[in-house]
Amino acid sequence: MFNFKYYTPTKVLFGKGTELKTAELIKEFGGKKVLIHYGGGSVVRSGLLKKVTDLLDEAGISYVTLGGAVPNPHLSLVYEGIELCKKENVDFLLAVGGGSAIDSAKAIGYGVTNEGDVWDLYDYKKKAESCLPLGVVLTLAATGSEMSDSSVITKEDGLVKRGYSSDYCRPRFAILNPELTMTLPNYQTACGCTDIMMHTMERYFTNGGNMEITDSLAEGLLRTVKENALILVKDPKNYDARAEVMWAGSLSHNGLTGCGNDGGDWMTHKLEHELGGLYDVAHGAGLAAIWGSWARYVYKDCLPRFKKFAINVMGVADTGSDEETALKGIEAVEAFYREIKMPTNLKELGVNATEDDLKEMARKCALGVGGAMGSAKLLHEEDMLAIYRASLG
Ligand code: NZQ
Ligand code: ZN
Repeated sequence: MFNFKYYTPTKVLFGKGTELKTAELIKEFGGKKVLIHYGGGSVVRSGLLKKVTDLLDEAGISYVTLGGAVPNPHLSLVYEGIELCKKENVDFLLAVGGGSAIDSAKAIGYGVTNEGDVWDLYDYKKKAESCLPLGVVLTLAATGSEMSDSSVITKEDGLVKRGYSSDYCRPRFAILNPELTMTLPNYQTACGCTDIMMHTMERYFTNGGNMEITDSLAEGLLRTVKENALILVKDPKNYDARAEVMWAGSLSHNGLTGCGNDGGDWMTHKLEHELGGLYDVAHGAGLAAIWGSWARYVYKDCLPRFKKFAINVMGVADTGSDEETALKGIEAVEAFYREIKMPTNLKELGVNATEDDLKEMARKCALGVGGAMGSAKLLHEEDMLAIYRASLG
């Protein structure tokens, strides 16, 4: 077991009608001039944005708005947001939407309070020393960005998608009303469930420092999301299932399911980020498309964990052979992805990658992780390429 830091400063309001507390929370955290940041328009269509601006008007809090954060959010909008905040003396950010709006807001927050080009953070050239305070009204249970320390941005020039993590960007508050996720297309709900599970799976498949209490929390979370994802395929308006998934999304990426281990593997995410950067695929779908190939490539180097996962999470019976049991667990995950209509390879994802594309993604991925990364198995560029090739389908 390793020493660990567990830091979750985010105040969470969970349940029906909690978005009505938005203005109150902004005041509580000292916001006087707010930038409301959102995505491509779902919050306009649902009426949520109007509801939030009405609340701020009533509370006498002034604000400016900036929409347009696309999935795999762009650096150019971040620059625009930084300029707007400086011009308008914004002192608080409110993201209303999914992970993309939240991550874009985090990047804007870094850009306003740190000298120089904000991309230098994502390019690992320097570290942040602060971020504007941020609150979240969440509309999509997926990334966990509403409590996480990370933000993922795509630089259009060169299609480079990179994450930057620091405690400064952890939201001050997160409003989680499961009803706000009911307008989601089924595909996005499934992408979200995949991402949520993957944040815990990345922490679970490690070769160091595992704790029983962490494993129990992780396995319980994974079983819960799996079961409720299946319910939502048939019954997307099921409040309780939405609620289970939404809270799991926050817990899965706030550090809880990694306490005591070596930090996790994270290579499925790193491999997916290149896919997202190059082909602009939905993050959760990209993860599903790559995971099976990653798992088959690494499982022998992390056999006890794959076996435990197969039995405790996927409900596989112990065959007496660790390798066989582990493989059955991997197959069960892929069967689950098919049930929730997620892809299990690049072809099903709709990506027709050439050999040159695969090489370019492996090169960028290796560069992005500083050469090699992975706890289940340490992966170098040639391993990454082998996994991309195996995922073609
Ligand atoms: O843009 P709008 O119009 O709002 O539509 C969005 C978008 O098209 C739509 N949507 C969101 N809530 C909705 C809704 N549509 C109807 N009803 C609602 N209630 O869903 C689409 C996807 O939204 P997006 O915010 O892009 O999805 P997600 O939350 O999955 O975020 C994905 C981004 O987060 C990054 C991903 O790489 C990707 O760039 N990640 C961020 C992490 C973090 N900050 O901790 C961790 C993750 O591993 C991930 O990398
Ligand atoms: Zn993710």
